[in-house]
Amino acid sequence: MSRIRIIDLIKSKDFDKQIHIKGWVRNRRGSKNVAFIALNDGSTIHNLQIVVDFSTLGEAVMEDVSVGAALAIDGKLMQSQGAGQTVEVIATKIEVLGKADPEKYPLQPKRHSLEFLRDIAHLRFRTNTFGAINRVRHSMIFAIHKYFNDNGFYNIHTPIVTSSDAEGAGEMFRVTTLDDKNPPLTEDGEVNYKEDFFGRPTNLTVSGQLEAELAALALGQVYTFGPTFRAENSNTTRHLAEFWMIEPEVAFNDLNDNMDLAEDMLKYVVQYALDNCMDDLQFLSKRLQEEEKGKKENERSPELIEKLRSVVDNEFVRLTYTEAINILRNSKPNKKKKFEYLIDGWGADLQSEHERYLVEKHFKKPVILVDYPKEIKAFYMRMNDDGKTVRAMDILFPGIGEIIGGSQREERLDVLLSKIHEIGIPEEEMWWFLDTRRFGTVPHSGFGLGFERLILFVTGMGNIRDVIPFPRAPKQAEF
Ligand code: 4AD
Ligand code: MG
Repeated sequence: MSRIRIIDLIKSKDFDKQIHIKGWVRNRRGSKNVAFIALNDGSTIHNLQIVVDFSTLGEAVMEDVSVGAALAIDGKLMQSQGAGQTVEVIATKIEVLGKADPEKYPLQPKRHSLEFLRDIAHLRFRTNTFGAINRVRHSMIFAIHKYFNDNGFYNIHTPIVTSSDAEGAGEMFRVTTLDDKNPPLTEDGEVNYKEDFFGRPTNLTVSGQLEAELAALALGQVYTFGPTFRAENSNTTRHLAEFWMIEPEVAFNDLNDNMDLAEDMLKYVVQYALDNCMDDLQFLSKRLQEEEKGKKENERSPELIEKLRSVVDNEFVRLTYTEAINILRNSKPNKKKKFEYLIDGWGADLQSEHERYLVEKHFKKPVILVDYPKEIKAFYMRMNDDGKTVRAMDILFPGIGEIIGGSQREERLDVLLSKIHEIGIPEEEMWWFLDTRRFGTVPHSGFGLGFERLILFVTGMGNIRDVIPFPRAPKQAEF
């Protein structure tokens, strides 16, 4: 008999039918004459209740049925009398496919702390929370590809190994095959990268943007969705050393078009989660409420599903960096010196405390900030006529801070050249990028969405290390 998945079985009304299922034991309980097994096969947050009647099967069938064990079960589908489920299965045969020694198996049917689960990240997929997160994560990957495909974008694979630093922040992981104890040296005693695998210094990419620009200026509208790597020593709940980024790039779009695209895409994917992941979202919402019970009322996060709906239903607020600085300078936490970084003048980079004040306290909606000081943004952003600001945009989300960073690109060769000279990027290394501005240049725009920050938002989780299966962060690369 072929296996039916629990997600399909719990919707079924084929009562009295013989069925075959496989899965893992989440819990077992029982009495003298009967045992109940909660079985999960990963297809849904819901467990299937298996009823084991000792008068027909004998008590011995339960011997190796412990939490974590894998089972194959034949049985009859029945309408459930018990609370909490609509169907159950009366077992006619139980086979233990893989035992899980209860003395050694670290997961038990109780609440484990997220910290504990991070130390056993190889097993945490087996918990309700991580099952839900990973199913939502999958749906969001799918929704993003669907959104861009339905809107006529082409997906471009940009390189993972690169010799350029797109963001110019110098936070890159070196890729080399040179002997670290005895590298070849130049006459000046420097490491001679001419002898390295690629004949030049190479790194893991921090962004696929520059290559996406090359493609956009021929294919019109493209997007990347790939891994990116940043060697910044940020031990925060919002930073990973390896994360996934979605980067659309569109020829002929100006910054307003870029904001419209970003807002439309975010609303689409959040709506997709509401339409397709409701079981998991309801579980995650309850989990969040449990977790926040201890907090003061004004420090609690909004209910998850309501929060997602409010993003879909509200227009994002759009304002300039300068307007935001004025709001922040006159804000209560600034005047009362509650911010860690006080805002006293124009030009400072915004910290996540400022971003979250704007979104969560002042506007109470997602915010798009534009026109940042040129000094705090990357070299490729288009210079405004004021000579002080660039056509940058950051999208700020409740509970997250920056979720998207993007810009209209500098398409004028002379302006771009003077910018890269000013900040000391070697022109000869950028010849291929500059060629787009030499041949058929046009205004164009794009942005980068941090995929794990999106998943943080949609799942209501508090730490980015819990929304990627295998987090990479400072001093953390096990599993
Ligand atoms: O703002 P960023 O650095 O922008 C870029 O990389 C541009 N090249 C994007 C573009 O215009 N095509 O990064 C974009 C987004 C951020 O808004 C944030 O959501 C996420 O990537 N991000 C990180 N996510 C997790 N861990 C980190 N260390 C991150 N750094 C950035
Ligand atoms: Mg940014």
